[in-house]
Amino acid sequence: MRLPQHSIDRAAPIGVFDSGIGGLSVLQALRAALPGEDLVYVADSAHTPYGERSDAFITQRTSAIARHLRDAHGAKLLVIACNTASAAAAHVVRQDNPGWPVVAIEPALKPAAHHTRTGHVGVLATRSTLASRKFAALRAAVTSAHQDVRFSEVACDGLAASIERWAQGGDGSASRDLLARYLGQLGELGAAAQAIDTLVLGCTHYPLIREQIQQQLPPGVGIVDSGLPVARHARRLLHSTGLLRDETTGDEALSQASLRLLATGSVQTLRAAAQRWLTPTTAALPDVETLAL
Ligand code: DGL
Repeated sequence: MRLPQHSIDRAAPIGVFDSGIGGLSVLQALRAALPGEDLVYVADSAHTPYGERSDAFITQRTSAIARHLRDAHGAKLLVIACNTASAAAAHVVRQDNPGWPVVAIEPALKPAAHHTRTGHVGVLATRSTLASRKFAALRAAVTSAHQDVRFSEVACDGLAASIERWAQGGDGSASRDLLARYLGQLGELGAAAQAIDTLVLGCTHYPLIREQIQQQLPPGVGIVDSGLPVARHARRLLHSTGLLRDETTGDEALSQASLRLLATGSVQTLRAAAQRWLTPTTAALPDVETLAL
């Protein structure tokens, strides 16, 4: 009998990873849904962004980080908090790790199809995510289940990278300018017939600037992202596999649970981003560790 290579210990941490700081938007949702769980977050900041890279490169990085979280941290569950890495490599990680619960993320097309009243949904994501077979299959499945809904997508080259830079300081004008350009390319936004009334943030970096995005949208346009559904899915999966740590909830559990933050490149970016976007920051956040990988 082949023994599992992954941890089946309930006290083991959950491994979370993204190309950079974007996955913090998912980590935040995980901390809310699973406050008693220990978390290890890896930002592949030496190689961010992934969005304009080849599938082979993204797969190689995703596999290496998944292995690290499995072997060095004994992660009982892996959350790929990156749409780009999920689309390119989640199936490879699953194939390589039979039985290891792996949660992947995908643009929230299904919730958006339920939300829209005009029947027109806009999707912002990376070039790689939008070009993936996974995305094409998702879009086809949702379109066939909701034949009155159509999707318009724009590949947001450079937007995730500009958010990484924004985290380190600056006024965010580069991100705002890119956003304005990409929202303009989507077409008419608003509640009018045919207009886009629902916007999917299909990259985990974008919810970090949700407020700035909202400011550029006309009233009546709703924003949908996948952080919460992913956290809920992770919770269900832990529960069904008997790996859920405990049922304690709230700030007390959160302050007892451990959090480790690792970066393969700039520790400053992840440190600044965690201070800005991880709330509540009850106890002091751990310092970011360097990961040579
Ligand atoms: N945060 C990532 C995503 O969800 C990727 C951004 C990037 O590295 O280009 O797609």
